[in-house]
Amino acid sequence: MLQYVSLLSCALFTLFLSFAISRYLRRPNLDSIPTVGPGGLLTSYWGALVFLFHARETLQKGYTNYKGMAFKVPGLFYWNVILSGPKLVEEIRKAPEDYLSAREGFSDILKPKYTLGHETIHNPYHVSVILTQLTRNLAARFPDIIDEIKTSFDDNIQLVDYEWKSVPAYETIVRVVCRTSNRVFVGLPLCRDPDWNDLVSGFALDVVKVAVTIGLFPDFVAPFVGRLLSNLPRSVRRGMKHLQPIIEERQKNLDEYGSDWDEKPNDMLSWLMDEAEGEECSVQNLTRRMLTINFSAIHTSSINFTHALFYLAANPQYVEPLREEVEATIEEEGWSKNAIAKMRKVDSFLKETLRFEGLSFVSMLRKAVKDFTFSDGTLVPAGSMVSVASFPTHRDNETYENADVFDPFRFANEKQVKEQACQQMVSTNPEFLTFGHGKNACPGRFFAATELKAMLAHIVVTYDVKFENKGLRPANITFGAANSPNTKAKIMFRKRVV
Ligand code: HEM
Repeated sequence: MLQYVSLLSCALFTLFLSFAISRYLRRPNLDSIPTVGPGGLLTSYWGALVFLFHARETLQKGYTNYKGMAFKVPGLFYWNVILSGPKLVEEIRKAPEDYLSAREGFSDILKPKYTLGHETIHNPYHVSVILTQLTRNLAARFPDIIDEIKTSFDDNIQLVDYEWKSVPAYETIVRVVCRTSNRVFVGLPLCRDPDWNDLVSGFALDVVKVAVTIGLFPDFVAPFVGRLLSNLPRSVRRGMKHLQPIIEERQKNLDEYGSDWDEKPNDMLSWLMDEAEGEECSVQNLTRRMLTINFSAIHTSSINFTHALFYLAANPQYVEPLREEVEATIEEEGWSKNAIAKMRKVDSFLKETLRFEGLSFVSMLRKAVKDFTFSDGTLVPAGSMVSVASFPTHRDNETYENADVFDPFRFANEKQVKEQACQQMVSTNPEFLTFGHGKNACPGRFFAATELKAMLAHIVVTYDVKFENKGLRPANITFGAANSPNTKAKIMFRKRVV
């Protein structure tokens, strides 16, 4: 037995060593870029493991030593080139797609062939639908958004009188975000269908699980592992059971009455059907596209909102200023998109959450598809993965006063309000990177801001919230560059005592 174990260990070690050598020989030449942590043939694996569990500290160290320049940190299968400082961030923003490619960056990370579908990444027509149609229709669809927020909080929390009730925070927020988003994506009654909600919220987790697992194997094994693990065909079939009758009915009306038939639903599915061309018009591909949009929308918004809710629950002193603002605005305007736009403190609270927490410690991931030289002479060879050190940028005292303090109304003070437009949570800049920056910045951020602001406004005027036993905010969960609130933590709600 012992003999077999030693033989197997030897074989695995030889495989690992030959893989390490081939990775080392095939790597783009990044010698001129300083390394943070161990950088040798074998020690870089140790660096890659350290990065999995201490990405934040590693990035901070790189930023402190090389702010305004490039540095590199080892990953298991490639090196990450990390840039910082407004000048280099602007250069990434301006770099053409055929040099620093967002599409190829997403592709390397998300393994779309096995998770979202190749076309979704390489023919991203839904991105402009989100940016234009969804954003333009926010005011028109706002009554539905607020209605779904109110009913889904009611349905999910189910309070009795003025008693406190403890609920799993993240799970509850995912349900509210999922229903509210889908009210605009596919409308009633599907947005309340338990199987649809389960599918679209679970799909994102499947994508991440499969992509991360494939990413743990070298490229040549990816097709085997990918085919073995992929849930995409099953998820699309499950989604088609819901969408097929709706799409066929809408298609019939389109054929009969033309593109602007009376009663045509004003939702994401209709906008996609209007824009889709060729093969993309099929029920299967429209379903896949809808799954992708949900993938982009649900957990991104829920993670950030849960972070915000945790700050609110741990700091009762933040509640009153928010309530005053929301009540005054609603009294003047009623619940409308315009009212939401006027809520500066609510906006600032969420923007501060995005600055302080965010989804990831890095942003603006790109893959160099041709050699790219920055103005300071840094050469990033083709094949390298490039991103920006967003977390250390957001915590830089030279940019944000007391940057390590969560200061919910920092973007709502008088001076900031004068510079209104550029201080809102949807405005990206080289020092506010949670939505990315430039032509690839998140196209759903206008929708996300309206939805999340309406959720926060609704919570503060409807409920009291706290942690059990006057608890403090639970520690975040991090893995590699990803940053999430504790997804098991509970929050207590009760009807607001006026
Ligand atoms: C607080 C919530 C959200 C955050 C923090 C967020 C963040 C991001 C980030 C960082 C990117 C990559 C940007 C880059 O590479 O430079 C991105 C891309 C994207 N986001 Fe969001 N997002 C959020 C909500 C949403 C929502 C609600 C939608 C859809 C309605 C959405 C749709 C997308 C899409 C489709 C892309 C890919 C864009 C492309 O392919 O060029 N996001 N998002």
